[in-house]
Amino acid sequence: MDLAGLRTPIVAAPMAGGPSMPELVAAVGRAGGLGFLAAGYKTPAALAAQVGTLREISGAPFGVNLFVPGPVPDVASIAAYRAELAVEAARYDVDLPEPDPADDDYWDEKLAFLLADPVPVVSFTFGPPPADVVAGLHRVGTYVVGTVTSVAEARAVAALGVDALCVQGPEAGGHSGMHDPYAAPPAVPLLELLASVRSATSLPLVAAGGIATGADAAAALRAGAQAVQLGTAYLRTPESGAKPAHKRALADQRFAETVVTRAFSGRPARGLRNRFIEEHDATAPAGYPLVNQLTQPLRAAAASQDDPDGLALWAGTGYRHAQDVPAEALTAELWSAAQAAQSSQ
Ligand SMILES: Cc1cc2nc3c(=O)[nH]c(=O)nc-3n(C[C@H](O)[C@H](O)[C@H](O)COP(=O)(O)O)c2cc1C
Repeated sequence: MDLAGLRTPIVAAPMAGGPSMPELVAAVGRAGGLGFLAAGYKTPAALAAQVGTLREISGAPFGVNLFVPGPVPDVASIAAYRAELAVEAARYDVDLPEPDPADDDYWDEKLAFLLADPVPVVSFTFGPPPADVVAGLHRVGTYVVGTVTSVAEARAVAALGVDALCVQGPEAGGHSGMHDPYAAPPAVPLLELLASVRSATSLPLVAAGGIATGADAAAALRAGAQAVQLGTAYLRTPESGAKPAHKRALADQRFAETVVTRAFSGRPARGLRNRFIEEHDATAPAGYPLVNQLTQPLRAAAASQDDPDGLALWAGTGYRHAQDVPAEALTAELWSAAQAAQSSQ
């Protein structure tokens, strides 16, 4: 597998929490693009089941994305936030869990699975993949991509021997892949960041963040990317497993802007501004993954009540362009619009 070999240089972003269904990955593969399964938050068995389903329905190359475990915050640092969320627990009639500092999202087990049953591409976010992990994946023939949000992160990850970098701009929906969870969220716009990373490394670059139209994709390719990675654009497709309330909110005029917040997980992430963000953004601590554990039952209850005001409505800045169109057709349309934009320059 090599990015340069893609018939359509469009990547369907890994989207943990439900959207990245095997059917979505397969549809993007049929259009000649590259789809990703999201290993984040899944048990190793659930990941293996999705890989198995995907292999049954698609012969196209695909990727799996992993969260690199970061520094684990002190449970005491989230005590005040836990107390604040008691009102939400009452509202949704759930119990808040005791935070588990040992949670590393099954890092070792998922890596063992990917080494035993290799997939074409593995990408990482939230940190640099350890060099021995990169080397191990290379030994089993896997193409390795590291996500970066700054030039410094790009230099550090390039030095680890990865095959390509996913350059994520601050326009991106969902979590920022920033390596230091305590730093201020990155702010350099994608096209500017791409140009800087382009001059810092010769690795192939995948551009992500706010890309919603053919013109956006053409601009990222012109700025030095080999492919573009879109998440939000696929959220409303029929193959996406996003919650119905999330899909509807993306098209609802009531949700008029996106904001970056730590309120749901303790890591900065961009989503539609809703009641939960308005009430908790100002006080949410940098406490991933403990904050994520705390809000999990709240988000699950909100989803089952079809309540968009208690859900994490992840969305990039281009969310108004997200369409309820089959993912294969969407990918093909985006690529032909990108080619038209490239040839009219
Ligand atoms: C709902 C959602 C979930 C996401 N989950 C992941 C994930 O599990 N791993 C990851 O590397 N990126 C994740 N991202 C970020 C994407 O990889 C990508 O950077 C982003 O979607 C690009 O911006 P866009 O949404 O404006 O297209 C997620 C994005 C969204 C919208």
